[in-house]
Amino acid sequence: MAPSEEKQKKLKKLVNLVNRSEIASIKSIVSGVVRIINDPKASIWDLKEMVEIDPPLTAKVLKVANSVYYSPPKKIGEIKQALIWIGFDTLKEMALSQKVSEIFNKNGSVEGYSISSLWKHCVAVALITKMIYRKEFRERGANAYVAGLLHDIGIIVESQFLQNDFSLVLSKAKNAKTNLSEAEQEVFGLNHADIGMAIAENWNLPQEIAGAIGYHENPLKAEQGSSKLASTLYIAEYCSQDSSIGYSEAPFQNNEIFEQCLAELNMDPHALDLIVEDAKRELNEMEDQGLF
Ligand SMILES: [Fe+2]
Ligand SMILES: [Fe+2]
Repeated sequence: MAPSEEKQKKLKKLVNLVNRSEIASIKSIVSGVVRIINDPKASIWDLKEMVEIDPPLTAKVLKVANSVYYSPPKKIGEIKQALIWIGFDTLKEMALSQKVSEIFNKNGSVEGYSISSLWKHCVAVALITKMIYRKEFRERGANAYVAGLLHDIGIIVESQFLQNDFSLVLSKAKNAKTNLSEAEQEVFGLNHADIGMAIAENWNLPQEIAGAIGYHENPLKAEQGSSKLASTLYIAEYCSQDSSIGYSEAPFQNNEIFEQCLAELNMDPHALDLIVEDAKRELNEMEDQGLF
């Protein structure tokens, strides 16, 4: 069998396992909220309905809306009131982060890997990616936040379904001082970005998201429709590692790719300092809201 055929076969098998597991429980809310984010005609009522069909998510959103951080004048008991108090945009992101956090809830038992710090890393990448779109590109970046939240979903899959080999990958990455993707490639013949992209495609998420997840470790090879988002994810990844936020999956940063991404996006690296500070502040606020 040709290597690419074998890789596709492995990916298909993993996606099937994912779709039969708890990970797939986030699929309908995530794709529903992403659809709302990308539809200029969508209203707050679409979001309200979407959140309300998921009682555990509703409870979590109400808990955050009632937290000290949002300090409502009186107790918020319905999503409708939460929408009015915290706003449409914030609620879309909150619904996504609260839902995606469910698959990071388990304690990582693999040595050298902590699922909760991986989650913190994913939120940091989501925030920094979104902020770069808003502040630097002056764009809404509809898919930036969700792509950041999901970019390393492949690592979760490896830690759940390929546990023994994943331990080998981690020790290889540690001892041979190679980055995670290279170690994965050696052991699995594919990496966590390939897995993430296969899941995003199978779940019919927009191609921009799927492509950016698939090339977040290799952004200069991304296809046109997702290259900007893939490069921004790389920059966000680099920044979060540089400032040691959460799990650092590739401690051997590639300065050359980072510089090339900055050049491609026409970005001044100094602008990133402020963005990282803002992201750290927002992460602290999310910590106060109980997200970590
Ligand atoms: Fe990654
Ligand atoms: Fe990452």
